[in-house]
Amino acid sequence: MNKLAKRLTWIAAGAAVGVAVAKLSKKRGARSADPQGLRHSGTTVLETERLILRRFTLEDAEPMYQNWAHDPEVTKYLTWPPHQDVDVSEEIIDSWVSQYEKGNYYNWAIELKELGEPIGNISVVQRDDRARRAHIGYCLGKDWWHQGIMTEALGAVIKYLFREGYLRVESRHNVKNPHSGDVMKKCGMQYEGTFKGYEWDNSGIGDAAFYAILKEDYENTKGGACQ
Ligand SMILES: CC(C)(COP(=O)(O)OP(=O)(O)OC[C@H]1O[C@@H](n2cnc3c(N)ncnc32)[C@H](O)[C@@H]1OP(=O)(O)O)[C@@H](O)C(=O)NCCC(=O)NCCS
Repeated sequence: MNKLAKRLTWIAAGAAVGVAVAKLSKKRGARSADPQGLRHSGTTVLETERLILRRFTLEDAEPMYQNWAHDPEVTKYLTWPPHQDVDVSEEIIDSWVSQYEKGNYYNWAIELKELGEPIGNISVVQRDDRARRAHIGYCLGKDWWHQGIMTEALGAVIKYLFREGYLRVESRHNVKNPHSGDVMKKCGMQYEGTFKGYEWDNSGIGDAAFYAILKEDYENTKGGACQ
């Protein structure tokens, strides 16, 4: 090969490497941070003193049904009916599992470490990524109410969502279900007002009390009571 041919081969090889590197960094960039500053890591494992928050698997159908989803007392202020049998739980978990590959899907099983089973769930039920706002929903089996479990779970989720790049975490509850608001308050969320006749759940149409916390306030108060 003469000198010119050698030089042309080197230039071609260099260009190919350059294209590959550019493609890779573009891919990495898209995954690590979108234009709105969200990381989109999705449902990753979070651990607290008593809990592991993790993705659902199909094996969770039985404990989901037994521990909370069959119980009309648990679903009284929720929008879905109690599950009639374990197949309903399996179907819903199947639909959740298929969404886990999306980086913007946040839906955790709340596993109690000492039990080794999920006893409820906590998820982002609405998002506005341009406003960097996430709206949380949660529920827990009756056997574990009033032991600080949801406060522990919500605290971990708020912390994680702010790390993900969200600037506002909010939630709301039927005013007839005030303990849900107590959980929000305990996690440093501020009451923002009540919308009359705003929503329906299994108890009928009711007034909704709204709560939220902004990232800047969270950082100023070092995470409120939930740290
Ligand atoms: C509402 C719900 C999430 C509360 O979860 P929880 O783990 O029982 O709540 P916590 O133990 O963290 O309680 C936080 C605060 O709420 C209040 N509270 C909760 N349960 C209470 C009860 N049974 N009696 C009196 N106060 C209660 C207390 O002020 C408590 O603080 P404290 O422990 O310092 O006294 C749970 O009852 C539940 O899942 N209910 C069914 C589904 C539902 O309604 N989801 C919310 C829809 S908006």
